[in-house]
Amino acid sequence: MSHAEWAESRRMWERARRSLSGGVSTGLRAAAKPHPLFFSGGAGATLTDVDGHVYIDYVLGWGPNILGHGNPRLVAAVTDQITRGATYGAGHRFEIEAAEALLALYPDFDRVLWSNTGTEANLAALRIARAATGRQRFVKFTGHYHGWSDTMLLGYRRFADDGGVVAETRGQAPEALAQLELVPWGDAESLRIVLENSADIAAVVLEPVLCNSGVIAPPPGFLETVRELCTAHGVVLVFDEVITGLRIARGGAVERFGVVPDLVVLAKAIAGGLTLAAIVGSAELLDLTQQGVTHAGTYNGNPLVLAAAVATMAELGEEGVYEDFERRGARLADGLRGALAAAGIVGAVNQMGPVVQFAFGVTQVSDTRDFFAADQARYDRLAVALLARGIYVMPGGRLYLSTAHTDEQIDATIAAFVDALANE
Ligand SMILES: Cc1ncc(COP(=O)(O)O)c(C=O)c1O
Repeated sequence: MSHAEWAESRRMWERARRSLSGGVSTGLRAAAKPHPLFFSGGAGATLTDVDGHVYIDYVLGWGPNILGHGNPRLVAAVTDQITRGATYGAGHRFEIEAAEALLALYPDFDRVLWSNTGTEANLAALRIARAATGRQRFVKFTGHYHGWSDTMLLGYRRFADDGGVVAETRGQAPEALAQLELVPWGDAESLRIVLENSADIAAVVLEPVLCNSGVIAPPPGFLETVRELCTAHGVVLVFDEVITGLRIARGGAVERFGVVPDLVVLAKAIAGGLTLAAIVGSAELLDLTQQGVTHAGTYNGNPLVLAAAVATMAELGEEGVYEDFERRGARLADGLRGALAAAGIVGAVNQMGPVVQFAFGVTQVSDTRDFFAADQARYDRLAVALLARGIYVMPGGRLYLSTAHTDEQIDATIAAFVDALANE
């Protein structure tokens, strides 16, 4: 059967739409082209759909499967734990072992709070910042995504004509907009002006590498300046490392850039695909949860996900993992640049470690304006052409590599891009 036919997926989607809104589990997935696909399993860097097509997977569950699918150490840890219970709502050894392992990766900090998703963990970080400072409002940057809460889902994809903040979703509490100061990514001067003119800023929250809108590295010196400004104004600096954590270096952006925020938010990669998030910080800040700041969650720190986290961190701790991420990421990025050049197509490719961004119609993606100017519809069409060639990518142009991707798979992917671009 050709990869261009997804008859069983289509049948399942039609059935799913009778019980699930849009036939999907997050609204975003309803927009998948040609329609949402259904999968039966994954192995290493590949995924198999219900029509029997095998794809090289660059989606990785939208980021968490940093070890690929079915990593033996992860599978052993999770299957062993599930026989002894999924959740206790109480203490167990993995809680401590995982916290110690995470603090070893983030040695500037002394406490961890477990949470379940990046959305929740960012809200917890903001609550702690508000409690610590006695202030209410916060700063975020254009194009950064910190989850889907009313509080934080702002300034991501929707803007007023003057660049101001507008609701991102129907149903959003209007008072959320008044809590936010939105600053262009990389613009230290605008941040300085905001902090000098507002005494009510509790936190500055940012993706240290803007992965959600272009995999854009911070301009040289920018993170250092943000750090200085936050210190000078008594503002809590939060690095949202939901994507970058354990990915662009073992110790994420903190290790890679050597700039230490006050709080780090982690999710996605830290449990190798299971549902886990964390807030890392000083005892002074995180122990506020013992002084009246609520930090709750039925599933927080359950043994199943923390057994997975211990196994994932052990696997990522193996010799050469991050060197391989960098080398393979560069191999893919160079290959994609070559594919664009060979086809004579204007486009740009960014890469940091195992995260790659492909964009049509722009010669570089060095700020959010470039990213928003890219030809998204063309990439969406390419994504379908890639599916038909056995390559599974997310919409938007970001590709994730796992420890399981091989050079051969990367080369096959580059060949698929070359062929798809030649036949657009
Ligand atoms: C940087 C960043 N922060 C927060 C989130 C939200 O995390 P979650 O989807 O686990 O709620 C995401 C999700 O993609 C993210 O990329």
